Amino acid sequence: MQQTLAIIKPDAVQGGKAGAILAHLEAVGFVARAAKMARLTRVEAETFYAVHRERPFYVSLVEFMTSGPCIVLVLERDDAVVYLREVIGATDPVEAVEGTVRKLYAESKERNAIHASDSPETAVREIAYFFSEAELTRLWA
Ligand code: CMP
Repeated sequence: MQQTLAIIKPDAVQGGKAGAILAHLEAVGFVARAAKMARLTRVEAETFYAVHRERPFYVSLVEFMTSGPCIVLVLERDDAVVYLREVIGATDPVEAVEGTVRKLYAESKERNAIHASDSPETAVREIAYFFSEAELTRLWA
């Protein structure tokens, strides 16, 4: 079993799509090991997306990610990182395969409903960014 981080983004939460997205992820075999609703601060969003800070969309992305609450999830199943990326589809919903989360629920390349960790190393770092070890352990003890 492997864990990965997903963020149901402000567009999807505000649009009332969070429940459908979580149901979609559970239906394909993910188990939610942790979840929290969070309104990211500017510094949190800037830090989380620091890898994109030179990109032209960075300022707008930070603005969007702080515009309302997100739902942050630790999801588990076998091959979780690769499989979640497959299930959510391409960054741009126009390019996403039919039936993927972004094809079904995203508004645009920026307001694209969900984030997923892009590698096992990133998943470990991103999970630790939002959840303490003690918090994760206590949930299932
Ligand atoms: P995510 O998978 O969270 O990773 C980085 C985010 O930046 C991406 O989803 C989109 O929300 C956003 N993004 C990536 N590329 C673009 C782009 N070309 N224009 C606007 N937003 C983008």
